[in-house]
Formats: sequence, C-alpha cells, structure tokens
Amino acid sequence: MTYAVNDQCIKCKYTDCVDVCPVDCFYEGENMLVIHPDECIDCGVCEPECPADAIKPDSDTAEKWLKLNAEFAPQWPNISRKKAAPADADDWNGKPGKFEHFSPNPGK
Ligand code: SF4
Ligand code: F3S
Repeated sequence: MTYAVNDQCIKCKYTDCVDVCPVDCFYEGENMLVIHPDECIDCGVCEPECPADAIKPDSDTAEKWLKLNAEFAPQWPNISRKKAAPADADDWNGKPGKFEHFSPNPGK
C-alpha cells in the first residue's frame, strides 16, 4: 500500500506535503503533484499536512488517480522543498470537477 494524490491538488498545489516526506517521493506537474508509488514508504505523515485534503491511502483513492500518480511520477521532476502556492490556490480549494483543469506539463 502507498499514499496517492488525488484531483483535489489540481490548481491548489500548496506543497506542504513535500516538506514532511522522509523519502522525497513527490513529483511536480504544472498544476498538481503526484506520489511515486514505488518510492512511498506508506508512513502517512503527508496526509494531514495537505490543506486541500488531496492525499489519501490508495485503499481510499479512485483507480483513476492511482493511475495518474503511477503514470506521471516517473515523467515529472522531483520536488522536495515547499514553494509558494498559486495566488488563487484558496479559490480552488475544495472545488468539484477539477480534473478538466488538469495539465500534464512538468513543473517549472
Ligand atoms: Fe512520503 Fe510518507 Fe506521504 Fe508516502 S506516505 S508520500 S513516504 S510522507
Ligand atoms: Fe497538493 Fe496538498 Fe501537496 S494541495 S501539493 S497534495 S499539500
């Protein structure tokens, strides 16, 4: 079992999660992060750190988001330090239907 990032991260990207991960297994896309399922050690430390409630155990994550984490983690650059969230992150926090805003481009 591992943890995974779901669509609630899209356009929020607070990055509080990356500061606490002991194995630095977060990867950054343009408007969301994912967890590498082969690197996560299932410690659970990141879950309560996310202000958008976007991190859950895989047992509590839809297959669609599990696949997205597994597909993009090997393609995106690693992120291990918190950075400023987008200016409108709070406006997006908790919004439904975020996947239509997902962008697969790597983080900049
Ligand atoms: Fe990192 Fe632990 Fe979260 Fe996995 S569960 S992403 S190892 S902080
Ligand atoms: Fe995303 Fe939450 Fe981390 S919004 S970047 S999973 S703190």
